[in-house]
Amino acid sequence: QDLSHANTMALPSLAEYLWRARNERDVGQGLQLANERGWDLTVLGGGSNLLLPRRIGGLTLCADIDEIAFSSGAGDAVHVEVGAGVGWHSLVEACVERELWGIENLALIPGRVGAAPIQNIGAYGVEIADVLDWVELVDRRDGKSHRLDREACELGYRDSIFKRELANQVVITRLGLTLSSRPRPRLDYGALSQHVGVSGSAREVFAAVCAIRREKLPDPSDLPNTGSFFKNPLVSGSQASRLLSEFPAMPHYPQADGRVKLAAGWLIDQCGLKGYRQGAFGVHDRQALVLVHFGGGVLAELLAFAGRIVDAVHARFAVTLEREPRCVGER
Ligand code: EPU
Repeated sequence: QDLSHANTMALPSLAEYLWRARNERDVGQGLQLANERGWDLTVLGGGSNLLLPRRIGGLTLCADIDEIAFSSGAGDAVHVEVGAGVGWHSLVEACVERELWGIENLALIPGRVGAAPIQNIGAYGVEIADVLDWVELVDRRDGKSHRLDREACELGYRDSIFKRELANQVVITRLGLTLSSRPRPRLDYGALSQHVGVSGSAREVFAAVCAIRREKLPDPSDLPNTGSFFKNPLVSGSQASRLLSEFPAMPHYPQADGRVKLAAGWLIDQCGLKGYRQGAFGVHDRQALVLVHFGGGVLAELLAFAGRIVDAVHARFAVTLEREPRCVGER
């Protein structure tokens, strides 16, 4: 099965065995097959945060569960139960149409619902951690459905238990979120408030986020990419002070634990690498945090290209950038 069109970086890739599951039972059967044959498991969502090799051995499973159900909770709370196969942006649209608040800042994030908790998707001051109640999954080890509450998911900045202990062990099938019918705008990030119109409805915040993202971030269907290729690095307070004395204009975001988050895009930009291209891959010319694929490249070339960016940033700032999308098979 050719997966070149099933990953937003458009890397050429063939899956040995592709299993499309429409419900939990199908997922369980796919996992049983993988267990019987001793196959590796790769779970594919929208392929927007995953880097694919030329060939994926074993079973590649897609959880195409696409239901959305809304129910009223106590007070202003509205509960949403959503299947892993729903496109994340479609979910945001469906919620905003009902004037529900909570995920409007997460508009236009590519990928599917099932992948959202894996890296705890976040943008414009909001993370899925802020609204997530539970994650339902089928575990490869017992073939059964389990529900993990938010705490058990160990969500952190672009991180969760699904990237660590549970990597390649479970298939996420559904999420439960709690949104609010009462306005709860989160406009503190950057220039977002300046883009929101007078009525300040959830739809307006949504439209503002879409406009900002379209300005900076390349649409994968025009220019393949996986969004931010690097995480924004966290450094110690003392390292941040040293860097700030040398680079006073450096964007920096102090964290509750005393560490300071830096902007990887700014660091790459300062190395003069914005718009830099070598062969099939390049640094996006409007947002240096995004690597783009011009076509004809493969994973090994992308990783070598990314390695050069990491080396350049390290040489100049002594900060090590970490990759954000995962490679298949990697924990
Ligand atoms: N900057 C530059 N040059 C660049 C890029 C950024 O100087 O080429 C500077 C900006 O001017 C700003 C700072 O770096 O001062 C931060 O940039 P921005 O606000 O655009 O956000 P970001 O840190 O680059 C993060 C997320 C994005 C998310 C935005 C908005 C990570 C790794 N990335 O980007 O997430 O949309 O904030 O919240 O945390 C993604 O994960 O795929 C993604 C797009």
